Amino acid sequence: MNNLRINSFSEYKKAYKESIENPEMFWDNIAENFLWKKKWNNTLEFDFSKSEFKWFKEGKLNITENVLDRHLEKNGNKTAIIWEPNNPLEETRIITYRQLHAKVCQFANVLKNNGIQKGDRVCIYMPMIPELAIAMLACARIGAVHSIVFAGFSSAAIASRINDAQCKLIVTANEVYRGEKPINLKHIVDEALKDCPSIQTCIVYRRELEPTMMVGGRDKFWIDEMAKASKDCLAEEMDAEDPLFILYTSGSTGKPKGMVHTTAGYMIQTAYSFDNVFQMQPEDIYWCTADIGWITGHSYIIYGPLACGATTVMFEGIPSYPDFGRFWEIVEKLKVTHFYTAPTAIRSLAKESLDYVLKYDLSSLKVLGSVGEPINQEAWHWYNDYVGKGNCPIVDTWWQTETGSIMISPLAGITSTRPTFATLPLPGIQLALMDENGQEIVTSAEKSEGRLTIKFPWPSMARTVYGDHQRYIETYFSTFKNAYFTGDGAYRDAMGYYRITGRVDDVVIVSGHNLGTAPIENAINEHDAVVESAVVGFPHDIKGNALYAFVILYDDQNPSEQLIKEIKDEVSKSIGAIAKPDKIQFVKGLPKTRSGKIMRRILRKIASNETDFGDTSTLLNPEIVQDIEKGKL
Ligand code: WTA
Repeated sequence: MNNLRINSFSEYKKAYKESIENPEMFWDNIAENFLWKKKWNNTLEFDFSKSEFKWFKEGKLNITENVLDRHLEKNGNKTAIIWEPNNPLEETRIITYRQLHAKVCQFANVLKNNGIQKGDRVCIYMPMIPELAIAMLACARIGAVHSIVFAGFSSAAIASRINDAQCKLIVTANEVYRGEKPINLKHIVDEALKDCPSIQTCIVYRRELEPTMMVGGRDKFWIDEMAKASKDCLAEEMDAEDPLFILYTSGSTGKPKGMVHTTAGYMIQTAYSFDNVFQMQPEDIYWCTADIGWITGHSYIIYGPLACGATTVMFEGIPSYPDFGRFWEIVEKLKVTHFYTAPTAIRSLAKESLDYVLKYDLSSLKVLGSVGEPINQEAWHWYNDYVGKGNCPIVDTWWQTETGSIMISPLAGITSTRPTFATLPLPGIQLALMDENGQEIVTSAEKSEGRLTIKFPWPSMARTVYGDHQRYIETYFSTFKNAYFTGDGAYRDAMGYYRITGRVDDVVIVSGHNLGTAPIENAINEHDAVVESAVVGFPHDIKGNALYAFVILYDDQNPSEQLIKEIKDEVSKSIGAIAKPDKIQFVKGLPKTRSGKIMRRILRKIASNETDFGDTSTLLNPEIVQDIEKGKL
């Protein structure tokens, strides 16, 4: 992309200034770099009071023409995806832009042949294999809305997401391996589909040559459907504001929120941010270790990199298999230049022998990235010293499912970094720290601390919560007037650098995964022996945070290991294994306010081994605090 690249810090400052003074002109110039079927006539239209935001109105395009077709003439034979399997003995797959284009068109025809039309929702529940990328792009080709569900979620979690979006078709795989562990995705899907009347078709990719139970009339094999489909598929003309995908993220209350991202704004800003944050050269090899089931995978394995014509690595496995050197073995083998991972992965590898890192030649690396949670000092230095050998800038990128693309980050090699600081906002991003009273903190003190908000719209922002615009308004635009509330706390130093301190709501980030405590409590309360429960986060060396559950049992129930296991199983069943609490403490009561609200602040302190609980006199049952503390795990 020619016109998008910032090459120096003074260019960054200039771009930032322009983007604030005239946001429309700034984004217009960037949007010119893309392929449009019809040009937009109004860059931005918005109304904070209704929480309505429209970018590039009346513009028509198809995102797949931008991420695929556009590259064919000059770069058709360039590698788009390098796929690295779970099993290191299995072969790496190389897929060029031309091959990917053909497969996407072919699978788009499969979707059409199965009755999928523009606007229909398609659920994708797949392992990290190229067919996942093909399926998502095929949806975009015909204007179907993909809803990818991370393939670690349970049947119940899939079913609730399918039902929320009324998906008509699901794409999955049969058995897959994660490390040494076989997981039968098809079984999990079968279980989910018992409660999903909207699903008419289930397409199954055969990852393993296992016999697979197929349900007549509903289930079809990927390979059979592809054999019947042509490789030509015209790209559907989409409106700039047509939905591209739904991705569910945890809320602090109730069920997960289906964040809706639209076409043009999302495309433009994921590409722009990718290009500038990572500063890739055409021959570079980029690897983001996230799963495509999360926003990081959507924006920075697929859409952003492919829009920029980059080579992106997809890895099916886990960092610890066959041993803790796997990441570095892959970096050496594929000569990865840009490596983007999460602090939790860094911490889990840093606690193993250094030999795993030192054994491999990592000299290809140029830039390292971090995402998903605040990166702590130790992890930052380990990453810098042993992986980057002190030669690679670390881009600590702060953003969210809702923001669609990176909001705060150094530009590699351009912005000077400071350990644990995400540094400066990207051009176009107008941040504000708010105090408790909703006033913007405007000083340039050495340390200003507050709640992080964004006070002007940006193109890749999620436009609504699927089917529940009111919830979108309440969650993001009601805490502060005329600003988007991130749910994070942050501080800013005198240079204007931001450091994110973590969530200020009831979302806990465990191993980089966003988990709402409310749905976990609901799952625990499902157990017949349980009266009530409260779940909080506490600091954990590897995971960043882990979950601590305080559980009240019925009088006739006795605490036991068996009960702990059953309660954890309830959580796995309703959400997935990632949401299982590390600690479960049985308690006689929970600290409550007089209006009956659980005082989580106190529980958080107990779980974190703190002893100063502040004023507990307003509690309905202050005596319970000591009681709980005595039984602390
Ligand atoms: C946290 C992931 C500190 C933050 C892209 C945010 C971070 C939540 C960082 C969103 C970072 C993400 N430093 N905290 N670099 N990146 N977070 O929706 O609390 O899965 O609100 O999006 O992760 O998580 P989500």
